[in-house]
Amino acid sequence: MIHKIGIVGYGGMGSYHCSGIREKLSDCLEVKGVYDVREERQQAALDDGLIAYGNLESLLNDPEIEFVTIATPNNFHKPIAIEALRHGKNVICEKPVTMGSAELKEILAVAEETGKLFTVHQNRRWDRDYRIVKEIADSGIIGKPYMIESRVQGSKRVLQEWRGRKENGGGMVYDWGIHILDQVMWMDKSPVREVYCDLFSIFTKEVDDNFKAVIKFESGLNVLLQVDTNCFINEPRWHVLCEDGTAVIYDWSCSGKIVKLKDDKDLGWDSVIVYTEAGPTRTMAPRPRETTEELPLPDVRPDWSDFYKNVIAAAEGREELIVKPAEVLRVMNVIDKLFESGATGKSVSVGV
Ligand SMILES: NC(=O)c1ccc[n+]([C@@H]2O[C@H](COP(=O)([O-])OP(=O)(O)OC[C@H]3O[C@@H](n4cnc5c(N)ncnc54)[C@H](O)[C@@H]3O)[C@@H](O)[C@H]2O)c1
Repeated sequence: MIHKIGIVGYGGMGSYHCSGIREKLSDCLEVKGVYDVREERQQAALDDGLIAYGNLESLLNDPEIEFVTIATPNNFHKPIAIEALRHGKNVICEKPVTMGSAELKEILAVAEETGKLFTVHQNRRWDRDYRIVKEIADSGIIGKPYMIESRVQGSKRVLQEWRGRKENGGGMVYDWGIHILDQVMWMDKSPVREVYCDLFSIFTKEVDDNFKAVIKFESGLNVLLQVDTNCFINEPRWHVLCEDGTAVIYDWSCSGKIVKLKDDKDLGWDSVIVYTEAGPTRTMAPRPRETTEELPLPDVRPDWSDFYKNVIAAAEGREELIVKPAEVLRVMNVIDKLFESGATGKSVSVGV
């Protein structure tokens, strides 16, 4: 069966959903039409062969539409999601689902009451770099991870349009932070014990345009999350310290490596001081290359379209949702605490 979907907000992401669905999901999903407040985006929808509904109400009143994807700026997610659920639609909301956990709880109450499906487009759970790290952690090939650094760094500085405005839910915690937090919280399901966050507003005064956060899990895993918009020399996208080795993924190309001690070598504590260009050291003396071995990164090939396939299967009662409302709420609770920590300059207990 081919299900029909409507998209609210036909900007960058709304049109991405449409082209992705057309390219990869035409056997199960068809975009029937969109509603966007801007005339030029309504015209873009018509040019793309879609219906441009005159208002939100008429899209939601179309009985053929079973699913609605919301891709507006963040402050509109809550009212549109509630309206769509009340019209009997299954709802897929863009991230960040809301501006804070209180708003999200209001949506989830309506989803519960109407019995309709509600999920969030946490598409970066299907990113290849992330799945490589998850595979390293899940398989235990170099033991248990205890410190993960996940960084996204660019140099375009000022956040454009609504992304730079507080009332729209702008800023980098809501933009990228939510993705990289969701990634690590989907990997380690133990409660987050404590967080600390530094928020910077260097070029975009109303919102955080850079941030650095530490997330401590009950499992013992510590995570550093960092998003920069004024960085011209990037650190690796992922740096993963595990008990038996280290993994690195350098950048968007997903290139990287795993390095561990060779099985037949010992750690080789030096009793003598080594003199390096920088100065003397014993504990940190560079290791001879022949004592380590390099392993390739696991070859994983996730596919974004599995997100929508799962949403449809869940609506048909064939599968459990992958992006579960309870997980999204858990992440949003931690996001609230990041802002609290950023505002107070103190670490904050979490316990979710
Ligand atoms: N999952 C991801 O990787 C990802 C990537 C980019 C953006 N997003 C999210 O998608 C959403 C949209 O971001 P974008 O980059 O497409 O922004 P955008 O500015 O390109 O598009 C937003 C569109 O929504 C329309 N709009 C605004 N208010 C509306 C309303 N009340 N009703 C209907 N239409 C309305 C605007 O006219 C605009 O065309 C945001 O929540 C953003 O965080 C997610």
